[in-house]
Amino acid sequence: MEKNLINNLVKDKDQKYIENNFQFILFGGTGDLAHNKIIPAFYNLAAKNILPPNYNLIATGRRYENQAEYLQALYNSLKAKKETIDDKIWQSLSDKIEYFNLSFTNDDDFIKLKKFLEDKSAAEKPSNRIFYLATAPGFFASLAQKLEKFNLLDVGFSKNKSRLVIEKPFGHDLESAQELNKNLTEIFSEKNIFRIDHYLGKEMIQDIMVIRLTNPIFRAIWNKNQIDNIQIYLNESEGVKDRGKYYDDAGVIKDMFQNHMLQVLSLITMEEPSELTAAEISQKKVAVFKELADNDLSNIDEHIVRGQYDSNIINEQEIKSYRDEDEIPADSETATFLALKLFLNNQRWQGVPIYLKSGKRLKEKEATIAIEFKSNFHNAYQNQQIENNLLLIKIQPDEGVSLRFNTRKPASNNKIIPVNMEFCQSCQQFFNSPENYEVLITDMLNGDKTLFTSWEEVSYSWKFIDKIQQKTTEKSIKLHQYPALSNGPEAAQQLLAADGRKWWD
Ligand SMILES: NC(=O)c1ccc[n+]([C@@H]2O[C@H](COP(=O)([O-])OP(=O)(O)OC[C@H]3O[C@@H](n4cnc5c(N)ncnc54)[C@H](OP(=O)(O)O)[C@@H]3O)[C@@H](O)[C@H]2O)c1
Repeated sequence: MEKNLINNLVKDKDQKYIENNFQFILFGGTGDLAHNKIIPAFYNLAAKNILPPNYNLIATGRRYENQAEYLQALYNSLKAKKETIDDKIWQSLSDKIEYFNLSFTNDDDFIKLKKFLEDKSAAEKPSNRIFYLATAPGFFASLAQKLEKFNLLDVGFSKNKSRLVIEKPFGHDLESAQELNKNLTEIFSEKNIFRIDHYLGKEMIQDIMVIRLTNPIFRAIWNKNQIDNIQIYLNESEGVKDRGKYYDDAGVIKDMFQNHMLQVLSLITMEEPSELTAAEISQKKVAVFKELADNDLSNIDEHIVRGQYDSNIINEQEIKSYRDEDEIPADSETATFLALKLFLNNQRWQGVPIYLKSGKRLKEKEATIAIEFKSNFHNAYQNQQIENNLLLIKIQPDEGVSLRFNTRKPASNNKIIPVNMEFCQSCQQFFNSPENYEVLITDMLNGDKTLFTSWEEVSYSWKFIDKIQQKTTEKSIKLHQYPALSNGPEAAQQLLAADGRKWWD
């Protein structure tokens, strides 16, 4: 009865739905990501009635004894995240969740899983199967190999219907990424590998192309003739929390630049795709990554600022230095902050400086893209100090767009002042931005790869990052200390001040 009711609801034509039944096998179903992102995303999808009537979510792990204990733990995590939980929605979701006790190193468990999925397939006839690896990256290749070895891809339907979803990080340099990709593509085709960069699921990241391409006022001037500089800052206020071991190997360059930062940069600077297909958009992004990888970084020492957070006292509370965090060596040289100035040597962007910045333990959590336009005003106003037009695309915590333009100060003698026109998407009443995992899960279930990173994107971005790492070592680039919860190293301000510019955060 309940199912029919749900199916008969009138569908919102602006909303994406998942039409086909599926089996979703979540390896690492007991971990942090599953508790805090994936299951809450499924809850939201169930609440929005986006899921099909028959699906299964099979979550593997070892730490819970049984189904009841697992469901209770999921419920507790949801409760900690949400103000209210609708019992009917939770019931409809928990009815679909199966806890499957499995160790990655026990082959018998995979044989049992195959039988389990087979039985479910016979009864429920899913049209595809998604294997989501929410586990440490060291398990990615071996898990994929076990899926093939124990025939989990072939049960009930043809092999190419199975999809593989991989969390970040995809490798730790170009060589390891190539090795991982080789292992995965021996089993899954590129079409069925979904590499997650959760930034791509964010509302305003999805909006970049719309803002650029559907507004003639921006589209016509999206080039070196009218744009003075581009800034992207992805600032975090948190420290490394309990991820010290992972972070000290990765640092800000692999944690933020190789993936999120370069993805945002590619969407801002790529050439216009001729159609909105995943393949076409990816090709345009790849062209940016190729140019980055070909960049001559011989003078990188003038264009880079590396930093690491030091302790600080804020409101009489001591904030630990990076080196005092758990699992961080006392002499760690890992950068928790990076600012970079670079150029793209193509027709559209030649000569336009692009400033990138990201760091942990900065004063405010804020991710924004700032496009500063050139001064190009009428001669008659040349004797006045006039600010450049500035477009801000705000990714988080606020989502929206702000445009700074010039106007006459009221009741003045033609004094010119800048004012801001604001569109705040996240402030709108009754609007709750979908969580990025909600968006990504919907798309992966529908087989849409637009918001996932292709192998070419990953490989060229690693090529660029490896080159920066190599040059940083060769040139012994200094690691500046900066006080926790500050604006970062002073040298990062200088990087722009030397060009007569400033950061917009
Ligand atoms: N957490 C986040 O917010 C976040 C954000 C972005 C990306 N990621 C990525 O997502 C992935 C998962 O991260 P996480 O934070 O969820 O990790 P986590 O909390 O450590 O969870 C790891 C999961 O793997 C399972 N596992 C580990 N070893 C196993 C083994 N030998 N056999 C069977 N199961 C095993 C654990 O199950 P049991 O302990 O129950 O056995 C647990 O479910 C990583 O690649 C991470 O980089 C995470």
